[in-house]
Amino acid sequence: MAKSGIDTTRLQHLARAYTESATFFAALDFELFTHVEGGAGSVAELADAMDLLELDAERLVTACLSLGLLEWQNGRLANAPDAARFLVKGEPRYAEAWMTFTRPDVDNWFRMSEIMRSKREPTVLGMYADLTVDQARAYHSATYSIGMGAGRLFARTVDLTGRKKLLDLGGGSGAYSINAVKTYPDLEAVVLDLPPVIEVTKEYLAENGVSDRVSTLGADFTADDFPDDVDCAVMASNLPIYDEAVVAKVIKKAHEALLPGGEMHLVGEMVTDDRTGPLDAAMWGLFEALTGGAGKAHTIGQCRGYFEAAGFENVSDEVFVPGILHRVFGTKAG
Ligand SMILES: C[S@@+](CC[C@H](N)C(=O)[O-])C[C@H]1O[C@@H](n2cnc3c(N)ncnc32)[C@H](O)[C@@H]1O
Repeated sequence: MAKSGIDTTRLQHLARAYTESATFFAALDFELFTHVEGGAGSVAELADAMDLLELDAERLVTACLSLGLLEWQNGRLANAPDAARFLVKGEPRYAEAWMTFTRPDVDNWFRMSEIMRSKREPTVLGMYADLTVDQARAYHSATYSIGMGAGRLFARTVDLTGRKKLLDLGGGSGAYSINAVKTYPDLEAVVLDLPPVIEVTKEYLAENGVSDRVSTLGADFTADDFPDDVDCAVMASNLPIYDEAVVAKVIKKAHEALLPGGEMHLVGEMVTDDRTGPLDAAMWGLFEALTGGAGKAHTIGQCRGYFEAAGFENVSDEVFVPGILHRVFGTKAG
């Protein structure tokens, strides 16, 4: 390190951070972690399993060891615990679809300067305006692979005992509703999402055997009415898609729709009030620049403000998934 304690290493890392994503995607393409779990524990065995030159297999293995995705166990290659849990094909928590969800955006990330210079006028719905059912199906095979974990966490963290009906705003695959009704036998839910998405939601509800307790509503939450027979509401993982005015409006509509004494939970990619992180939330906000939407990263304080302005009481917040999601919640007066 330079005498001043200031050097270029962090900046060099930033300049080449894309190499880490590219390595990760290649390892997923070659099903490296699946082969390791299947017993390929040396470079030669992996080269054979992945049908690669041994030289390239060695390069990839060295990079994955350095990334902490692989480790040594008794002289053999093994998966790191998260790689073993989420990157092995056929395992219940396999999340390749989510890990590569944003891969098609890579070119646009590297065109960010050009896109920003064009100063195009953002639209409210952005990329969601012309979604087809097939696009929604591909999109939600990814969100489902990660959303089920978040949905389980929500049902474990939030006590919905005594609640009768959950409104799942922008519910996508229905991951939150599926887990909520499975956890609370007296609860029903309604997933509200854009009409093409709802076609896909129905498939996940049927697959999980909850179609009789979770209904669907094809609607645009920025413009359409909400059901008014609900005593709890959740809106998860769509916060950065919209700007302050839209999020405030949606929270206000939810407050109006809730029965007296009802509760609302906003689970979103929020940054701290001084906007210094988490990085992931900031990046989801920045991504909106590439989509043509008006969305951005919202702060925790802003989100609490939307609740308070809507009339919610007992407004509070807590970390939901560290570094990824935060939860703001409140109740409607009884
Ligand atoms: C990242 S997904 C999250 C899905 C689900 N809440 C979860 O956490 O698994 C965001 C969802 O918000 C939905 N959405 C975005 N804008 C919407 C709108 N204006 N009206 C209804 N749904 C919307 C999208 O279609 C998508 O299903």
